This record gives sequence, structure tokens and C-alpha cells, in this order.
Amino acid sequence: MNATQELMRRHTSVRKFLPDAISDEQLQHWIQAGQQASTSSFIQATSVIRVRNPTTRCQLAELAGQQEYVASAPLLLVFCADLLRASTLAEQQLSQPLPQGYIEHLLIATVDTALFAQNVMLAAESEQYGGVFIGGIRNAPQQVAELLALPSLVYPVFAMCLGKPDQAPSLRPRLPTDLVLMEERYQPLQPEDPRLHQYDAEVRQYYRERSGGKKDMSWSEQMAQLLGKEARPHMLAFLHNQGFALR
Ligand SMILES: Cc1cc2nc3c(=O)[nH]c(=O)nc-3n(C[C@H](O)[C@H](O)[C@H](O)COP(=O)(O)O)c2cc1C
Repeated sequence: MNATQELMRRHTSVRKFLPDAISDEQLQHWIQAGQQASTSSFIQATSVIRVRNPTTRCQLAELAGQQEYVASAPLLLVFCADLLRASTLAEQQLSQPLPQGYIEHLLIATVDTALFAQNVMLAAESEQYGGVFIGGIRNAPQQVAELLALPSLVYPVFAMCLGKPDQAPSLRPRLPTDLVLMEERYQPLQPEDPRLHQYDAEVRQYYRERSGGKKDMSWSEQMAQLLGKEARPHMLAFLHNQGFALR
């Protein structure tokens, strides 16, 4: 396996950081790596906001569900899906209002932003930094949008904490590849599939070891807990309010 793939396969989220600062130059390099990610129709629908103000950081940590590292990580970036930039220029070119609010545009901008951010994470990891995505900011997207002065056609997809790791978490086991990689046709998972049972046992063991026996949960149980409850039902109204997903 080559060094790039080894790096990718070593990924674990990092939530505890040493205080070492990240230079402007490093940040520029990581963002440039993000910018070079594929982008749907060349739309480049991502803006990244670095938040340094300690008060704003604390507010974001609170809004994200009291995730302390959002306040304390050496670097906090908020990744925004941004259709405003391209729309402003298009409107100027066409000298007329644009047809807006297509859910396709929401998908494009969100996918672009995720690809951009993953490149940033990987660039940081390639320099022995680590980090974690923070979807928790979507607990309170309206307040986040106000804190960051986000206009219409821009929404915060997630944040990312980055810094030198002060922990070395073990790899979180992923599903068996042959349950994920399918040939020719979709192959629905059979709940009684022994590969799934084995994976459930592996995840349970991972949690037991990581938590010193306190957390005892299989992947299936975790999915039941996650998908058995509401998922940020405020997002639809918020996205509408920002001019997304109207048709
Ligand atoms: C879009 C997205 C949002 C996430 N949000 C959070 C978050 O708010 N807080 C957190 O601690 N981890 C968050 N994570 C990290 C995941 O929990 C983590 O990637 C997953 O459990 C797999 O663990 P690993 O990254 O260590 O392999 C998020 C990951 C993604 C991709």
C-alpha cells in the first residue's frame, strides 16, 4: 500500500489537542488542498470561516451540544455551502433574477463542501495533525448563521477542529468491505448475515476497550438509537429560510 492510502486508513477523529498553534501558511496550504477537490460543474460552492474570537468559540461549543474542543482546539473552521458567490456573478452576467432554491443546488453545494473539507482533514493529517468534524453546529443553525453573519444562499454544513493530537485513539472499525462494495446490483443487508454479527461484536469490543467497560454497544444497537429518534427536524425550515431546497 502506498503512503497516501496508509495515511487515509490511519484516520481517527481527534478531540484532544496540544496547544501548538497552526501557522497562517499551514492553513493556506490545507485550504488550497481543499480547494483542489473536485467541484460539481466547477461551481466551487464552499466558503470556510476561521473562528478565533474566544467568545464566539465558546458560543459555538455550547450550541454544538457542549463540545468543549470546539472552544479550545487550536484551529476551528466552519465549512459553509455557499451558492451566493456564484449566484451573484451569474445574476450580474444575466442581468436578471435567477431561478433559485433547487434542491439539486443544495446537493451540489453540500457535496462540494464535504469533498473540500475531507481534503483539508487529509492535508492536516499528512502533517501529523488531527481533527474532528462537528456536525453538532446544526443543532442550532440559525444561531450559528447569526453569529457568523451568514447571508441567504449560505449555510453551515459542519465545523472542524484541528490541532496536534494529544491522544491516540484506536481505529474505529468499519463495516466489512464486501457489505459495502456491491457488484452489478444493489444487495440489501440481511440482518442475520454472519458478517454483520461479527462486525457487531467487533464494534462492541471496540467500545468496551475504549471506555474501560462503560460503553457496551454494537453497531446495530447504535444505529437503532440514532435512527429511532428525530434528526434535527428544524433543518428544513432553516434551509428554506436561507433560500435552499424550495423546489
Ligand atoms: C459530517 C460529520 C459530522 C460529525 N459531527 C461530529 C460532532 O459533532 N462531534 C464529534 O465529536 N464527532 C463528530 N463527527 C465524527 C464522527 O463521530 C466520526 O467520524 C465517526 O464516529 C467515525 O470515527 P472516526 O472518525 O474516529 O473513525 C462527525 C463526522 C462527520 C463526517
